[in-house]
Amino acid sequence: MNTSRKPFLAALAGERPARPPIWLMRQAGRYLPEYREIRCRAATFLDFCYTPAFAVEATLQPIRRFGFDAAILFSDILVIPDALGQTVAFESGEGPRLDPIADASSLARLAEEPDWTRLAPVFETLDRVKSALPGDVALIGFCGAPWTVASYMIAGRGAPEQAPARLFAYRQPKLFASLIERLVEASAAYLLRQLAAGAEAVQIFDSWAGVLPPGEFERWCVAPVAAVVAKVRAKAPDAPIIAFPRGAATQLEKFAHTPGVAAIGLDTAVEPRAAVEALPGPVALQGNLDPLALVAGGAGLDEAIDRVLEGFRPRAHIFNLGHGVRPETPIEHVERLVARVRGR
Ligand code: CP3
Repeated sequence: MNTSRKPFLAALAGERPARPPIWLMRQAGRYLPEYREIRCRAATFLDFCYTPAFAVEATLQPIRRFGFDAAILFSDILVIPDALGQTVAFESGEGPRLDPIADASSLARLAEEPDWTRLAPVFETLDRVKSALPGDVALIGFCGAPWTVASYMIAGRGAPEQAPARLFAYRQPKLFASLIERLVEASAAYLLRQLAAGAEAVQIFDSWAGVLPPGEFERWCVAPVAAVVAKVRAKAPDAPIIAFPRGAATQLEKFAHTPGVAAIGLDTAVEPRAAVEALPGPVALQGNLDPLALVAGGAGLDEAIDRVLEGFRPRAHIFNLGHGVRPETPIEHVERLVARVRGR
């Protein structure tokens, strides 16, 4: 089979079909009753992620229900700190809790390399999903960008504007650089293993790119992501890579010029036409419907969908949200979205 014909992979290669392929960030998860049903069978969220039977099922659920053009591995960006030996837990309804990295000694306690045995269930999940997917549906692997992952490792939780990590980076730049370097190595190796296990494209989530001023943005977002991309492409030269620097605003171009980036994920605030004009030609654009329009539904949703479709029409476009699906999203609105994007 010619895999380049999967619509999602065709768009990543710069092709422009009449209707863009569609998948949604956080397309699996709590808004789906079938997810909530299996989620409560695992004691913790990480146990759920590390049990292939659950992770395979959660990955496939949105494909069965909505027929998206791509499935994204069900896992989390914080499995990397977990595999490096940091304590990671998810409190229900409160988000992640990590044992914060405060100084050189807590950094020294981290492993040099992720414990690949701990991550083996992730690779098994990819392998099993790959053989279960319909022939025209692509499989996406992912990791968090070094900056975003480091910000959780330092704050120990989601912190407003990532103030703890920014302070750490200003006060102890050498130490912070060594953490980022460790994450560059770990993330590249992790993505390569995901590609070997069956992922056909990978996305790097830099969810907190938007909090950094230009100098820091260059140093802690652009350069580390470029290093991950270069390391992945050195061993997997054809691997399509999507960068999602959420909130990067006027600094988006720096990502789009990174060699080896096939597509840029755009957040809700980006004006499609401005991105079409500002970002270099061969890079595909992914995004960027407001997740709240999907919660709202109705005529407001239809208008928002049409604006996204229209705005990206001149370019290779992958329809997505500007951030993840929110747990309160009605399923009928997702059905309506898919039908409208497909022109039905
Ligand atoms: O997109 C998908 O459907 C694949 C699965 C996926 C999850 N997290 C599952 C998840 C992906 C790609 C992620 C990425 C992720 N995780 C990011 C980057 C994208 C973004 O949203 O900005 C970040 C920052 C995280 C860290 C994380 N994980 C947080 C802050 C939280 C708590 C907030 C929340 O939504 O609950 C999580 C938990 C998490 N990751 C859940 C899911 C389905 C909810 C936990 C549960 O169901 O019990």
